[in-house]
Amino acid sequence: MEGREISKAVITRLPRYYRYLGELLESGVERISSNELSARMHVTASQIRQDLNNFGGFGQQGYGYNVKYLYTEIGKILGIDRQHNLIIIGAGNLGQAIANYANFEKRGFIIKGMFDINPRLIGLVVRGIEIRGVDDLEQFIMDNDVQMAALTIPKTKAPEIADRLVSAGIKAIWNFAHVDLTVPDDVVVENVHLSESLMRLSYRVCSMQDRIEEEKTKASAKSAKQAK
Ligand code: NAI
Repeated sequence: MEGREISKAVITRLPRYYRYLGELLESGVERISSNELSARMHVTASQIRQDLNNFGGFGQQGYGYNVKYLYTEIGKILGIDRQHNLIIIGAGNLGQAIANYANFEKRGFIIKGMFDINPRLIGLVVRGIEIRGVDDLEQFIMDNDVQMAALTIPKTKAPEIADRLVSAGIKAIWNFAHVDLTVPDDVVVENVHLSESLMRLSYRVCSMQDRIEEEKTKASAKSAKQAK
């Protein structure tokens, strides 16, 4: 795997493999064939073999994949075998919802602190995490070895805060604000836009309905023709 470039498409699929393998492990499954995994995940077996071959082929002919090994290796590839210290900027609805989701910690994402500018929020504690003012942001990042920040603030405020975060040494921004951030090359940004996902869902449901309508129209035209 060393030095080998893994395509973005494969990386995008890895969290899903990781989730399925985690579920298999929890239910005591020790090994699985690409065909069985394919049936569960609704991905073709050849796609699974191709994806997993990127990492030196964890599967063995006639044995399948060792679930625990594969789970651990994918975890390493995704970097979730390490601890990532995270802060949340913006302790409103979304920021608090993220802070309240305890499962991130199981994946190694430790929420060290939350920040806001609203004096009514500063000092409140969400699931043990104190909301602080942004004045001591830089010091907090340094003192707590923070590399990641979730941005859950309005888009107008996001670029300025992102600049401060980068200057303070943040290397990864989980960006929920609806704005494209400009950051140096050694900083990564993952944009999360639920509304885009919802629009994709809308597209899919609409095209499905259109297809059904079209088929109905064709079928009734056909039966009308036959009736003549
Ligand atoms: P909210 O209004 O409940 O929370 C925003 C918080 O940010 C407020 O508490 C506010 O005081 C704080 N804030 C504003 N400027 C700040 C600054 N410079 N530094 C620190 N804190 C600051 O809003 P909500 O619903 O939590 O949404 C937050 C942002 O996330 C909005 O921009 C919204 O459009 C976006 N959003 C994005 C979603 C996505 O899928 N990407 C989904 C939902 C919301």
